[in-house]
Amino acid sequence: SELDLAIRGGTIVTASDMYKGDIGIFDGRIVAISDEITGARQEVDASGLWVMPGGIDSHVHIAQDSGPGIVMADDFASATASAAAGGNSTVMSFALQKRGQSLRQSVEDYRKLAEGECFVDTSFHLIISDPTPAVLGQELPALVKDGYTSFKVFMTYDDLVLNDRELLAVFDVARREKALVMVHCEGYDTIRFLAERLEQEGKVAPYYHAVSRPEVVEREAAHRAISHAQLVDVPIMIVHVSGAEAMEQVRWAQRRGLKVYAETCPQYITLTAEDLDGLGMEGAKYVCSPPPRDAESQKAIWEGLSQGVFQTFSSDHCPFRYDSPQGKLNPKARSSFRWVPNGIPGVETRLPILFSEGVSKGRITPQTFVALSATNHARMYGLYPKKGSIGIGFDADICLWDPKRKETLRQEILHHGSDYTPWEGFEVTGWPVATFVRGKIVYRDGEVLGDRGHGQILARGISEYVGA
Ligand code: URP
Ligand code: ZN
Ligand code: ZN
Ligand code: ZN
Repeated sequence: SELDLAIRGGTIVTASDMYKGDIGIFDGRIVAISDEITGARQEVDASGLWVMPGGIDSHVHIAQDSGPGIVMADDFASATASAAAGGNSTVMSFALQKRGQSLRQSVEDYRKLAEGECFVDTSFHLIISDPTPAVLGQELPALVKDGYTSFKVFMTYDDLVLNDRELLAVFDVARREKALVMVHCEGYDTIRFLAERLEQEGKVAPYYHAVSRPEVVEREAAHRAISHAQLVDVPIMIVHVSGAEAMEQVRWAQRRGLKVYAETCPQYITLTAEDLDGLGMEGAKYVCSPPPRDAESQKAIWEGLSQGVFQTFSSDHCPFRYDSPQGKLNPKARSSFRWVPNGIPGVETRLPILFSEGVSKGRITPQTFVALSATNHARMYGLYPKKGSIGIGFDADICLWDPKRKETLRQEILHHGSDYTPWEGFEVTGWPVATFVRGKIVYRDGEVLGDRGHGQILARGISEYVGA
């Protein structure tokens, strides 16, 4: 037979369809879809299962430099193993430019960490912290041509923040090069003002992290980013939108016809600021930025997910160990929330949480689930039509999904390098049974299967949302 593999008897789900069919795979690609495919060299029985494009998580942080003494809990091997176990076949991580460093050097540093280590396909966004004339004039245009077609900028954090003049300069290069800028919208000065006041009042517990970054801080920055984007006439992607306030800014922009896109994450539909208010330092397990909000904001985020305000649902996987001097409980963490590293692990639990809370509870359709978790990521970041759907010619990146299976999320069953999950004890309906990357099985029934290094480092094309 011409076929390496047939996946038979499942229900194929794409961003637009849901139907019964068999899939034929040759040389890592989908080459046939029909009622019945026989005679392949290998067969997988998918009866009772959904056959979906492998998850694409376009926002994960892996082995990223996190400041003196702090170390991320995942390297590329453990992060991509965890991704595979969560039903994902592609992740997009970040190459962080340190101030004073050339962008090219930062890209080479992170590529070196990833090469030969990945279980799933991996690609890099750039983080621009030092937009020098050389970066803006030469490095960015050259890197976009090499397939680094998206970059993230920050409106907060001492080591990363860009001022308005710098944001505009980066936006302008993005417009010229047709790159997509991802913007972290939280205001640097507003957070500093609030954090200093809280510290003076002795309010230093992890909970005050959330108090120091209220929704208005995010809303103000979102509006400022949108205004800058309008001024320069460039599309932007506002990442990790946490609640109603910032989302209203996005909706306002979209209604005016501006190309403002948005992402949200599992933490903003399942956690609240109260989770940071645990016994002792326990709240540090939930410290991320923007922080989780409240029940009302969760409701607003669901509206945005079902109504198309959000194009992508990503994990913002940014794992630290809790019980570690290099993690959440570093020597300075007790003195102030300001020293608790920001970020939570989530690449493995993203799909079960969105499926369970979304599809199983009737808030979104199966097709919208696929769009939010795979297809739109490929379209947004220039991997379509190579990845992101089940169709002839697509890479055979496939997730076999059991829509009925009940699981309880627990640290014990996860594959990440962190020593906890923020969702310990969270019950879900719907679970990944197997993950294929370019036709090769990389995960099945709780086990990540060999061949580290099968994951390739991908160059990407221009975003469909930016336009050719
Ligand atoms: O707290 C978070 N989200 N850390 C990850 C870095 C970021 O800003 O996305
Ligand atoms: Zn961010
Ligand atoms: Zn992030
Ligand atoms: Zn391989």
